[in-house]
Amino acid sequence: MSKILEKKELVPNIYELLVAAPRIARKTRPGQFVVVMADEQGERIPLTIADFDRDRGTVTLVLMVVGTSSKKIARISVGESMAAIIGPLGVASEIEKLDTVVMVAGGVGTAPVYPIARGFKEAGVRVISIQGARSKDLLFWTDRLAAVSDRHVITTDDGSAGIKGLVTEPLRELLEKDADKKIGAVYAIGPAIMMKFCCKTTEPFGVKTVASLNTIMIDGTGMCGGCRVDVGGTTRFTCVDGPEFDGHQVDWDMLLARQKIYEKEEACSLERYIETIEA
Ligand SMILES: Cc1cc2nc3c(=O)[nH]c(=O)nc-3n(C[C@H](O)[C@H](O)[C@H](O)COP(=O)(O)OP(=O)(O)OC[C@H]3O[C@@H](n4cnc5c(N)ncnc54)[C@H](O)[C@@H]3O)c2cc1C
Ligand code: FES
Repeated sequence: MSKILEKKELVPNIYELLVAAPRIARKTRPGQFVVVMADEQGERIPLTIADFDRDRGTVTLVLMVVGTSSKKIARISVGESMAAIIGPLGVASEIEKLDTVVMVAGGVGTAPVYPIARGFKEAGVRVISIQGARSKDLLFWTDRLAAVSDRHVITTDDGSAGIKGLVTEPLRELLEKDADKKIGAVYAIGPAIMMKFCCKTTEPFGVKTVASLNTIMIDGTGMCGGCRVDVGGTTRFTCVDGPEFDGHQVDWDMLLARQKIYEKEEACSLERYIETIEA
């Protein structure tokens, strides 16, 4: 059982949760995640540890409501507990001694980008972050990300904040201007389609690009194969081998297709759950 100590809606449908989890907070490193269960009957879903405070024994999760389990978790009140929180899971980010790193965050991907950007900043690496959203109303943690970045660029699809357009445009410009090859790596975290196109953008420049994959997960321990991905022709499990992989090696079309395999069941489950809570 893990008590929710604070909860706030950052933007419509995205919640920040402060959760009491001292043992997890003590061990967490940037890039890792937890698997949570809203209730005893609920499924296990992975959520990135967006922040952690070892002294207070807390972890911060940022949750986008997309289906039954995320809706159940978002409905847990402050002072109440989730049935389970397991972690930290996954391989931590490799914080290399680079000159410059570019962190690209799309939508809710801002949450997983933040601790990695902070890790690089603390290691003395110059951090350029590009944060994208559909519109100004969907941007969150802009100040937080800016605070751990030497340069922070915002893009919105509709131009309501920052540069009008997709994150890939400033990313391409940065790479084109990087004549001295100071950019040692690009991290892209967000919707799979955004990560795919960030990787396509960086590939001609030969810059290492890391993507944090958001596959469907079931057990989260390497036993079920639900989170399998093809990376460079080899099957890898996101939960134990990832979630970060070389984005240039990922079979993005397979990943996108596998994200949809339970679409019908997910829609059915959400419909049933909404009926229950509205009854
Ligand atoms: C390592 C990892 C870290 C993650 N971190 C976060 C996080 O910090 N915050 C957050 O909000 N979400 C995160 N996710 C995604 C989150 O786990 C899913 O959104 C969640 O499992 C959906 O469960 P649900 O029952 O609410 O929705 P479902 O009913 O399972 O799905 C509803 C819809 O969301 C889509 N969907 C389901 N799972 C995923 C997924 N993994 N990625 C993309 N789309 C999905 C489905 O295709 C469907 O259209 C992470 C995923 C992984 C693998
Ligand atoms: S979630 Fe089962 S193997 Fe990764």
